Amino acid sequence: MTKHEEEDDQLPIILSKQSPGEKKQSFRMSKKIGSGGFATVFYAEELPDMTPIAIKRIPKARISGPKAKKKIITEIEIHRSLFHPNIVQYRGVFQDQSYVYILLEYCENGSVSEEFKKSPPFSEEKTKKIVMQVLVALGYLHQHRVIHRDLKLQNLLFDADRNVKVADFGLSAQMQDDDEKRKTICGTPGYLSPELVGGGSQGHSYSVDIWALGVCTFLMLTGTQPFQAADKKQTFQRISNVDYRWPDACNVSDNARNFVDSIMQKDPMLRPSISQLMQHPFLTPGRTMPPYMVRAWWDYSNRYGLTYILDSHIVGACFNDSSRITLSPDEAYSQYFATPHTTDPETILMDDIETHPLRKKLILILHFASELKKRSENLLGSPYIGKEGILPHVKYWAKTRDGTLFRMLSRDVQANFKDHSKLIIETSSKTLYYENGETFEVLNLSDLKNKEKYAEVRKRFALLKEMSNHLV
Ligand SMILES: Nc1ncnc2c1ncn2[C@@H]1O[C@H](COP(=O)(O)OP(=O)(O)O)[C@@H](O)[C@H]1O
Ligand SMILES: [Mg+2]
Repeated sequence: MTKHEEEDDQLPIILSKQSPGEKKQSFRMSKKIGSGGFATVFYAEELPDMTPIAIKRIPKARISGPKAKKKIITEIEIHRSLFHPNIVQYRGVFQDQSYVYILLEYCENGSVSEEFKKSPPFSEEKTKKIVMQVLVALGYLHQHRVIHRDLKLQNLLFDADRNVKVADFGLSAQMQDDDEKRKTICGTPGYLSPELVGGGSQGHSYSVDIWALGVCTFLMLTGTQPFQAADKKQTFQRISNVDYRWPDACNVSDNARNFVDSIMQKDPMLRPSISQLMQHPFLTPGRTMPPYMVRAWWDYSNRYGLTYILDSHIVGACFNDSSRITLSPDEAYSQYFATPHTTDPETILMDDIETHPLRKKLILILHFASELKKRSENLLGSPYIGKEGILPHVKYWAKTRDGTLFRMLSRDVQANFKDHSKLIIETSSKTLYYENGETFEVLNLSDLKNKEKYAEVRKRFALLKEMSNHLV
């Protein structure tokens, strides 16, 4: 037994964090909940309220060399810059003579790996939920130029509400620009991508995370590692040849197989993007629902105007003074249009809100966002992750005795009628989506020529045209 393990037997331990100019914090470290390469993770409670917290403890003896020291500093620097519902929240760091302690949001339901070991494989339903949330987290990470580089089931955690949280930034890299390539080979053997095991000189980038997610997905669906072999050398050989096969006995759907197969590309450039994967039929099966643009809204026109949330988590408002504002899904920035005709909106970082001349409207949109998100939680699709340009939004709207009409920046139109039927016109493709509670139909604008068959849709279409005369 090492000295450190002996100490673990003497739990609980009270730890105190006192940094200059900060309030002293004390923690009662009471139970070991996990361990990885370097660290031991404990369940702890912050005193005096006993608020649960996780403490990742790294022995200083293990990080004595300059390389290891640099690694832990990078982990902290990257992790402290991240704020996302699908990423374990960093809460601070401190040290004593023997250890560095990283404070983390406590994930009550442990790692995906622990749960997986109890009953592999996972159902497709369960796998989908996990994969979708990891994709959302990856969208955020890659947008912030962070490559995780150690995605695996041990580093995915479940919080108290069973939300998936990506953990462990111990091997992550912060990129300086989009084209940068990394040369250091790191990660866990079975999850490494061909460009990592090949020893080539081309370097690697964000798509190593996509590959690792493919490995995770295969593992969850089949219960086995795709590139498992007798030793590391053979595993690498199989990875390099993209040599894996679906077990004969597994009944994994075609959509699920295709999702993984699309990822397992030797050439990193050929791997699908995060948004392509989010739209893959495995995750968004069929078109059983129309792609509603506006998921929820409130008519505050007696005071402010209209506020709404799109399926893609963008929140917006059409103010009575005819200005428009949108808020990005991660609430990092807003775009402000002085009028509906403004083509070049002002982009405002939400960190600058306090000193901004539009402070009032910015505070309002944040407030609307928190309310709308609460109410539409289970209705939303995947978050919008476009990096540049103007966020999709409602440009004009109308409320008439027949219902509410939204006209989007893209010129697509959505009518929610008083009787709860809905009609959406995708202008570019001339596609109509119609739903009336019982039936759901996708048709082409030209189908409306068939007067008998589409009598009902034709009636709504006429109504919608009438409503559009009232757009403001
Ligand atoms: N915030 C947390 N809440 C609950 N369990 C955690 C938390 N962080 C880590 N763990 C558990 O501890 C293990 C190791 O943590 P990790 O940060 O991955 O350390 P390492 O860098 O050593 O791999 C995880 O696989 C998980 O089981
Ligand atoms: Mg780990």
